Amino acid sequence: MEVRVQNIRKEFGRFPALDNVSLDIRSGELIALLGPSGSGKTTLLRLVAGLESPTDGTIFFGDDDASQKTVQQRNIGFVFQHYALFRHMTVLDNVSFGLKVRPSNRRPPAAEIRSRALDLLDLVQLSGLEKRYPAQLSGGQRQRVALARAMAVEPNVLLLDEPFGALDAQVRKELRRWLREIHDRTGHTTIFVTHDQEEALELADRVVVMSKGAIEQVGTPDEIYDHPVSPFVFGFIGQSNALSVTLQNGEIWFEDRPIGLRAPTEPDGPATLYFRPHDIELIDGCGGCLAGLVTASRRVAGTRHLELDLGRNHPHAEIELPPERTTTQDRARVAFRPTKWKLFRDDKAGAEVTSTDVEAETQAQPFELARTGT
Ligand SMILES: Nc1ncnc2c1ncn2[C@@H]1O[C@H](COP(=O)(O)OP(=O)(O)OP(=O)(O)O)[C@@H](O)[C@H]1O
Ligand SMILES: [Mg+2]
Repeated sequence: MEVRVQNIRKEFGRFPALDNVSLDIRSGELIALLGPSGSGKTTLLRLVAGLESPTDGTIFFGDDDASQKTVQQRNIGFVFQHYALFRHMTVLDNVSFGLKVRPSNRRPPAAEIRSRALDLLDLVQLSGLEKRYPAQLSGGQRQRVALARAMAVEPNVLLLDEPFGALDAQVRKELRRWLREIHDRTGHTTIFVTHDQEEALELADRVVVMSKGAIEQVGTPDEIYDHPVSPFVFGFIGQSNALSVTLQNGEIWFEDRPIGLRAPTEPDGPATLYFRPHDIELIDGCGGCLAGLVTASRRVAGTRHLELDLGRNHPHAEIELPPERTTTQDRARVAFRPTKWKLFRDDKAGAEVTSTDVEAETQAQPFELARTGT
Protein backbone atom coordinates (compact mmCIF):
# COMPACT_ATOMS: atom_id res chain seq x y z
CA MET A 1 0.00 0.00 0.00
CA GLU A 2 1.37 3.38 -0.95
CA VAL A 3 1.11 6.16 1.64
CA ARG A 4 1.18 9.86 0.79
CA VAL A 5 1.53 12.45 3.50
CA GLN A 6 0.57 15.89 2.20
CA ASN A 7 1.28 19.20 3.93
CA ILE A 8 0.63 17.84 7.39
CA ARG A 9 0.58 20.16 10.37
CA LYS A 10 0.02 18.89 13.89
CA GLU A 11 -0.34 21.19 16.85
CA PHE A 12 -0.54 20.20 20.50
CA GLY A 13 -2.06 23.26 22.12
CA ARG A 14 -0.27 26.03 20.25
CA PHE A 15 2.91 24.01 19.78
CA PRO A 16 3.51 22.73 16.23
CA ALA A 17 4.94 19.20 16.60
CA LEU A 18 4.88 18.90 12.79
CA ASP A 19 4.86 21.74 10.31
CA ASN A 20 4.08 21.29 6.62
CA VAL A 21 5.40 17.75 6.32
CA SER A 22 5.02 15.96 2.97
CA LEU A 23 6.28 12.49 2.15
CA ASP A 24 5.47 9.89 -0.51
CA ILE A 25 6.06 6.30 0.52
CA ARG A 26 6.01 3.66 -2.18
CA SER A 27 4.29 0.36 -1.80
CA GLY A 28 6.63 -2.22 -0.27
CA GLU A 29 9.22 0.35 0.74
CA LEU A 30 11.15 0.23 4.02
CA ILE A 31 11.42 3.83 5.23
CA ALA A 32 13.35 5.03 8.28
CA LEU A 33 12.39 8.20 10.14
CA LEU A 34 15.56 9.49 11.74
CA GLY A 35 15.96 12.53 13.95
CA PRO A 36 16.77 13.78 17.43
CA SER A 37 14.42 13.41 20.35
CA GLY A 38 11.34 15.61 19.98
CA SER A 39 11.69 16.05 16.20
CA GLY A 40 8.21 14.61 15.57
CA LYS A 41 8.88 11.02 14.52
CA THR A 42 6.35 9.36 16.81
CA THR A 43 3.80 12.06 16.03
CA LEU A 44 4.10 11.38 12.30
CA LEU A 45 3.73 7.64 12.87
CA ARG A 46 0.67 8.11 15.06
CA LEU A 47 -0.94 10.33 12.41
CA VAL A 48 -0.41 7.65 9.75
CA ALA A 49 -1.91 5.08 12.12
CA GLY A 50 -4.92 7.29 12.79
CA LEU A 51 -4.18 7.51 16.51
CA GLU A 52 -3.99 11.30 16.10
CA SER A 53 -5.66 13.51 13.55
CA PRO A 54 -3.81 16.28 11.75
CA THR A 55 -4.49 19.95 12.45
CA ASP A 56 -4.05 20.49 8.73
CA GLY A 57 -3.19 18.42 5.65
CA THR A 58 -4.14 15.01 4.30
CA ILE A 59 -2.83 11.47 4.40
CA PHE A 60 -3.67 9.13 1.51
CA PHE A 61 -3.64 5.34 1.59
CA GLY A 62 -3.45 4.50 -2.09
CA ASP A 63 -6.00 6.87 -3.62
CA ASP A 64 -8.16 7.08 -0.49
CA ASP A 65 -8.15 9.95 1.95
CA ALA A 66 -7.28 8.20 5.21
CA SER A 67 -9.25 10.69 7.31
CA GLN A 68 -12.35 8.87 6.05
CA LYS A 69 -11.06 5.62 7.54
CA THR A 70 -11.12 4.46 11.14
CA VAL A 71 -8.03 3.03 12.80
CA GLN A 72 -9.42 -0.48 12.14
CA GLN A 73 -10.11 0.20 8.49
CA ARG A 74 -6.59 1.43 7.95
CA ASN A 75 -5.41 -2.05 8.94
CA ILE A 76 -2.11 -1.01 10.45
CA GLY A 77 0.41 -3.15 12.29
CA PHE A 78 2.01 -1.07 15.04
CA VAL A 79 4.92 -1.80 17.34
CA PHE A 80 5.11 0.97 19.91
CA GLN A 81 8.14 2.79 21.22
CA HIS A 82 7.57 1.45 24.72
CA TYR A 83 6.42 -1.99 23.74
CA ALA A 84 3.67 -3.61 25.66
CA LEU A 85 2.66 -7.19 25.23
CA PHE A 86 -0.42 -8.36 27.10
CA ARG A 87 1.18 -9.71 30.25
CA HIS A 88 -1.59 -12.10 31.18
CA MET A 89 -1.66 -13.71 27.73
CA THR A 90 0.63 -16.38 26.34
CA VAL A 91 2.86 -15.63 23.39
CA LEU A 92 0.41 -17.42 21.08
CA ASP A 93 -2.56 -15.43 22.38
CA ASN A 94 -0.64 -12.19 22.03
CA VAL A 95 0.08 -12.91 18.39
CA SER A 96 -3.51 -14.08 17.70
CA PHE A 97 -5.10 -11.11 19.42
CA GLY A 98 -5.62 -8.84 16.41
CA LEU A 99 -7.44 -11.57 14.50
CA LYS A 100 -9.52 -12.80 17.44
CA VAL A 101 -11.01 -9.37 18.10
CA ARG A 102 -12.20 -8.89 14.55
CA PRO A 103 -15.96 -8.73 13.99
CA SER A 104 -17.29 -12.22 13.22
CA ASN A 105 -17.79 -11.59 9.50
CA ARG A 106 -14.07 -10.80 9.05
CA ARG A 107 -12.67 -13.20 11.62
CA PRO A 108 -10.94 -16.36 10.34
CA PRO A 109 -11.94 -19.67 11.98
CA ALA A 110 -10.14 -20.45 15.26
CA ALA A 111 -8.00 -23.20 13.74
CA GLU A 112 -6.79 -20.86 11.01
CA ILE A 113 -5.96 -18.12 13.51
CA ARG A 114 -3.90 -20.61 15.47
CA SER A 115 -2.00 -21.88 12.47
CA ARG A 116 -1.35 -18.38 11.18
CA ALA A 117 0.01 -17.32 14.58
CA LEU A 118 2.25 -20.40 14.74
CA ASP A 119 3.56 -19.64 11.25
CA LEU A 120 4.42 -16.10 12.33
CA LEU A 121 6.21 -17.35 15.44
CA ASP A 122 8.20 -19.57 13.14
CA LEU A 123 9.00 -16.56 10.95
CA VAL A 124 10.30 -14.59 13.95
CA GLN A 125 12.20 -17.67 15.15
CA LEU A 126 10.24 -18.25 18.33
CA SER A 127 8.79 -21.69 17.55
CA GLY A 128 8.28 -23.69 20.73
CA LEU A 129 7.82 -20.63 22.95
CA GLU A 130 4.11 -20.14 22.20
CA LYS A 131 2.94 -21.18 25.67
CA ARG A 132 5.25 -18.84 27.55
CA TYR A 133 4.17 -15.55 29.08
CA PRO A 134 5.96 -12.28 28.24
CA ALA A 135 7.70 -12.21 31.64
CA GLN A 136 9.41 -15.48 30.70
CA LEU A 137 11.05 -13.99 27.58
CA SER A 138 14.17 -11.91 26.99
CA GLY A 139 13.81 -8.33 25.72
CA GLY A 140 14.74 -9.32 22.18
CA GLN A 141 12.25 -12.19 22.19
CA ARG A 142 9.50 -9.86 23.42
CA GLN A 143 10.24 -7.45 20.57
CA ARG A 144 9.94 -10.30 18.10
CA VAL A 145 6.58 -11.30 19.60
CA ALA A 146 5.45 -7.68 19.26
CA LEU A 147 6.49 -7.74 15.62
CA ALA A 148 4.70 -11.04 14.96
CA ARG A 149 1.60 -9.59 16.63
CA ALA A 150 1.76 -6.52 14.38
CA MET A 151 2.13 -8.66 11.26
CA ALA A 152 -0.69 -11.08 12.15
CA VAL A 153 -3.40 -8.81 10.78
CA GLU A 154 -1.63 -8.72 7.39
CA PRO A 155 -1.33 -4.97 7.67
CA ASN A 156 -1.45 -2.56 4.76
CA VAL A 157 1.31 -0.68 6.50
CA LEU A 158 3.64 -1.74 9.29
CA LEU A 159 4.66 1.02 11.70
CA LEU A 160 7.58 0.40 14.02
CA ASP A 161 8.49 3.01 16.63
CA GLU A 162 12.04 2.35 17.85
CA PRO A 163 11.32 -1.37 17.97
CA PHE A 164 14.82 -2.22 19.19
CA GLY A 165 15.41 0.84 21.33
CA ALA A 166 15.68 -0.92 24.65
CA LEU A 167 18.04 -3.67 23.53
CA ASP A 168 21.80 -4.00 23.70
CA ALA A 169 23.93 -3.32 20.64
CA GLN A 170 24.59 -6.93 19.65
CA VAL A 171 20.93 -7.98 19.82
CA ARG A 172 19.91 -4.84 17.95
CA LYS A 173 22.28 -5.71 15.15
CA GLU A 174 20.88 -9.21 14.80
CA LEU A 175 17.27 -8.04 14.88
CA ARG A 176 18.08 -5.36 12.36
CA ARG A 177 19.38 -7.84 9.80
CA TRP A 178 16.50 -10.12 10.54
CA LEU A 179 13.90 -7.34 10.14
CA ARG A 180 15.32 -6.56 6.70
CA GLU A 181 14.99 -10.22 5.73
CA ILE A 182 11.42 -10.42 6.97
CA HIS A 183 10.58 -7.23 5.15
CA ASP A 184 12.02 -8.56 1.91
CA ARG A 185 10.03 -11.76 2.32
CA THR A 186 6.67 -10.26 3.30
CA GLY A 187 6.88 -7.00 1.31
CA HIS A 188 4.85 -4.92 3.79
CA THR A 189 5.19 -1.18 3.36
CA THR A 190 7.09 -0.35 6.53
CA ILE A 191 7.83 2.92 8.35
CA PHE A 192 10.42 2.51 11.00
CA VAL A 193 11.49 5.12 13.57
CA THR A 194 14.94 5.25 15.05
CA HIS A 195 17.40 7.75 16.38
CA ASP A 196 20.25 5.40 15.61
CA GLN A 197 21.71 6.57 12.31
CA GLU A 198 23.64 3.39 11.71
CA GLU A 199 20.41 1.45 12.00
CA ALA A 200 18.64 3.77 9.55
CA LEU A 201 21.45 3.77 6.99
CA GLU A 202 21.89 0.02 7.11
CA LEU A 203 18.24 -0.97 7.03
CA ALA A 204 16.21 1.46 5.02
CA ASP A 205 15.51 1.84 1.32
CA ARG A 206 15.15 5.55 2.03
CA VAL A 207 15.87 7.64 5.09
CA VAL A 208 13.79 10.63 6.18
CA VAL A 209 15.85 13.01 8.34
CA MET A 210 13.67 15.10 10.65
CA SER A 211 14.44 18.09 12.83
CA LYS A 212 12.12 20.31 14.84
CA GLY A 213 8.90 19.08 13.29
CA ALA A 214 10.07 19.32 9.69
CA ILE A 215 11.68 17.05 7.13
CA GLU A 216 15.25 18.13 6.40
CA GLN A 217 16.02 15.58 3.70
CA VAL A 218 14.65 12.39 2.15
CA GLY A 219 16.97 10.08 0.25
CA THR A 220 18.67 6.73 -0.07
CA PRO A 221 21.30 6.03 2.58
CA ASP A 222 24.00 6.93 0.02
CA GLU A 223 22.35 10.23 -0.89
CA ILE A 224 21.92 11.20 2.74
CA TYR A 225 25.52 10.41 3.64
CA ASP A 226 27.24 11.66 0.49
CA HIS A 227 25.05 14.64 -0.36
CA PRO A 228 23.60 16.16 2.79
CA VAL A 229 21.53 19.22 1.84
CA SER A 230 21.83 21.19 5.06
CA PRO A 231 24.29 21.84 7.86
CA PHE A 232 21.92 19.94 10.14
CA VAL A 233 22.02 16.78 8.04
CA PHE A 234 25.78 17.07 7.52
CA GLY A 235 26.31 17.34 11.25
CA PHE A 236 23.72 14.77 12.28
CA ILE A 237 24.71 11.95 9.92
CA GLY A 238 28.17 10.53 10.39
CA GLN A 239 31.12 12.56 11.62
CA SER A 240 31.96 15.95 10.23
CA ASN A 241 34.06 19.07 10.69
CA ALA A 242 32.66 22.57 10.31
CA LEU A 243 35.09 25.46 9.83
CA SER A 244 34.37 29.15 9.50
CA VAL A 245 35.97 30.35 6.27
CA THR A 246 35.74 33.30 3.93
CA LEU A 247 35.47 33.51 0.17
CA GLN A 248 37.66 35.87 -1.79
CA ASN A 249 37.59 35.88 -5.58
CA GLY A 250 36.36 32.31 -5.70
CA GLU A 251 39.05 31.05 -3.31
CA ILE A 252 38.33 29.64 0.12
CA TRP A 253 40.36 31.27 2.88
CA PHE A 254 40.89 30.01 6.40
CA GLU A 255 42.08 32.79 8.70
CA ASP A 256 44.80 34.66 6.79
CA ARG A 257 45.49 32.25 3.95
CA PRO A 258 43.84 30.49 1.03
CA ILE A 259 43.67 26.73 1.58
CA GLY A 260 43.75 25.53 -1.98
CA LEU A 261 40.01 25.00 -2.43
CA ARG A 262 38.05 26.94 -5.01
CA ALA A 263 34.39 27.81 -5.38
CA PRO A 264 34.60 29.93 -8.53
CA THR A 265 30.95 30.95 -8.78
CA GLU A 266 30.58 32.00 -5.15
CA PRO A 267 30.38 35.66 -4.14
CA ASP A 268 32.82 36.95 -1.51
CA GLY A 269 31.90 36.68 2.15
CA PRO A 270 31.75 34.32 5.12
CA ALA A 271 30.74 30.67 4.83
CA THR A 272 31.09 27.38 6.66
CA LEU A 273 33.17 24.59 5.19
CA TYR A 274 32.02 21.05 5.98
CA PHE A 275 34.02 17.88 5.42
CA ARG A 276 34.18 14.39 6.85
CA PRO A 277 37.24 13.17 8.76
CA HIS A 278 38.02 10.51 6.15
CA ASP A 279 37.64 12.82 3.13
CA ILE A 280 41.08 14.42 3.40
CA GLU A 281 44.59 14.01 2.04
CA LEU A 282 47.85 14.79 3.79
CA ILE A 283 50.04 17.43 2.17
CA ASP A 284 53.81 17.80 2.32
CA GLY A 285 55.30 21.27 2.50
CA CYS A 286 52.00 23.00 2.47
CA GLY A 287 51.69 26.44 0.92
CA GLY A 288 47.91 26.55 0.75
CA CYS A 289 46.21 24.05 2.99
CA LEU A 290 44.86 23.48 6.47
CA ALA A 291 47.30 22.65 9.23
CA GLY A 292 47.08 21.90 12.90
CA LEU A 293 48.84 20.39 15.90
CA VAL A 294 47.90 16.90 16.99
CA THR A 295 46.21 17.04 20.39
CA ALA A 296 44.91 13.49 20.54
CA SER A 297 45.27 10.30 18.59
CA ARG A 298 42.96 7.32 18.83
CA ARG A 299 43.11 4.00 17.07
CA VAL A 300 39.55 3.05 16.05
CA ALA A 301 39.41 -0.39 14.48
CA GLY A 302 41.10 -0.09 11.06
CA THR A 303 41.83 3.64 11.14
CA ARG A 304 43.53 6.27 13.24
CA HIS A 305 41.63 9.38 14.34
CA LEU A 306 43.66 12.51 14.93
CA GLU A 307 42.33 15.52 16.74
CA LEU A 308 43.89 18.73 15.48
CA ASP A 309 44.14 22.16 17.02
CA LEU A 310 43.66 24.57 14.11
CA GLY A 311 43.87 27.76 16.12
CA ARG A 312 42.48 29.45 19.15
CA ASN A 313 39.19 30.59 17.68
CA HIS A 314 38.24 27.32 16.05
CA PRO A 315 36.86 24.03 17.24
CA HIS A 316 39.24 21.09 17.00
CA ALA A 317 39.08 19.26 13.69
CA GLU A 318 39.13 15.52 13.41
CA ILE A 319 40.77 13.61 10.57
CA GLU A 320 40.96 9.92 9.89
CA LEU A 321 43.94 8.13 8.37
CA PRO A 322 45.21 4.63 7.75
CA PRO A 323 47.23 3.78 10.91
CA GLU A 324 50.52 3.36 9.05
CA ARG A 325 50.26 6.73 7.27
CA THR A 326 51.11 9.00 10.13
CA THR A 327 53.18 9.79 13.15
CA THR A 328 51.03 10.02 16.23
CA GLN A 329 53.37 12.27 18.16
CA ASP A 330 51.67 14.75 20.37
CA ARG A 331 51.90 18.34 19.09
CA ALA A 332 53.19 17.14 15.71
CA ARG A 333 52.12 19.41 12.88
CA VAL A 334 49.84 17.87 10.28
CA ALA A 335 48.99 19.58 7.00
CA PHE A 336 46.01 18.40 5.02
CA ARG A 337 43.29 19.37 2.63
CA PRO A 338 39.73 18.13 2.26
CA THR A 339 39.22 16.08 -0.91
CA LYS A 340 35.44 16.19 -0.64
CA TRP A 341 33.71 19.11 1.00
CA LYS A 342 30.73 21.37 0.94
CA LEU A 343 30.09 25.02 1.68
CA PHE A 344 27.04 26.36 3.40
CA ARG A 345 26.36 30.07 3.65
CA ASP A 346 24.27 32.16 5.93
CA ASP A 347 21.80 34.03 3.83
CA LYS A 348 21.67 37.81 3.81
CA ALA A 349 19.23 38.01 6.71
CA GLY A 350 21.56 35.79 8.66
CA ALA A 351 18.73 33.65 9.96
CA GLU A 352 18.03 30.97 7.39
CA VAL A 353 20.86 28.98 5.94
CA THR A 354 21.03 28.21 2.25
CA SER A 355 23.13 25.46 0.86
CA THR A 356 25.60 26.07 -1.87
CA ASP A 357 26.34 22.77 -3.37
CA VAL A 358 29.72 23.55 -4.85
CA GLU A 359 29.92 19.95 -5.88
CA ALA A 360 26.88 20.35 -8.10
CA GLU A 361 27.92 23.71 -9.46
CA THR A 362 31.30 22.46 -10.54
CA GLN A 363 29.85 19.29 -11.98
CA ALA A 364 32.08 19.41 -15.04
CA GLN A 365 35.09 19.29 -12.77
CA PRO A 366 35.67 16.74 -10.06
CA PHE A 367 36.76 18.14 -6.70
CA GLU A 368 40.39 17.58 -7.45
CA LEU A 369 40.24 19.87 -10.49
CA ALA A 370 38.51 22.57 -8.51
CA ARG A 371 41.61 22.99 -6.40
CA THR A 372 44.39 25.41 -7.13
CA GLY A 373 47.94 24.15 -7.19
CA THR A 374 50.13 24.88 -4.22
N1 LIG B 1 0.25 14.47 23.31
C1 LIG B 1 1.10 15.49 23.28
N2 LIG B 1 0.82 16.66 23.89
C2 LIG B 1 1.67 17.70 23.82
N3 LIG B 1 2.84 17.69 23.19
C3 LIG B 1 3.20 16.55 22.58
C4 LIG B 1 2.36 15.39 22.59
N4 LIG B 1 2.97 14.42 21.88
C5 LIG B 1 4.13 14.95 21.47
N5 LIG B 1 4.30 16.21 21.87
C6 LIG B 1 5.43 17.10 21.57
O1 LIG B 1 5.65 17.08 20.17
C7 LIG B 1 7.05 17.04 19.88
C8 LIG B 1 7.35 15.83 19.03
O2 LIG B 1 7.17 14.67 19.82
P1 LIG B 1 7.42 13.21 19.26
O3 LIG B 1 6.98 12.25 20.31
O4 LIG B 1 6.79 13.08 17.92
O5 LIG B 1 9.01 13.22 19.11
P2 LIG B 1 10.00 12.02 18.68
O6 LIG B 1 10.75 12.49 17.48
O7 LIG B 1 9.24 10.75 18.58
O8 LIG B 1 11.02 11.98 19.93
P3 LIG B 1 11.71 10.71 20.67
O9 LIG B 1 12.91 10.36 19.81
O10 LIG B 1 12.10 11.28 21.98
O11 LIG B 1 10.71 9.61 20.77
C9 LIG B 1 7.75 17.06 21.22
O12 LIG B 1 8.16 18.37 21.49
C10 LIG B 1 6.70 16.59 22.20
O13 LIG B 1 6.90 17.15 23.48
MG1 LIG C 1 9.26 8.97 19.65
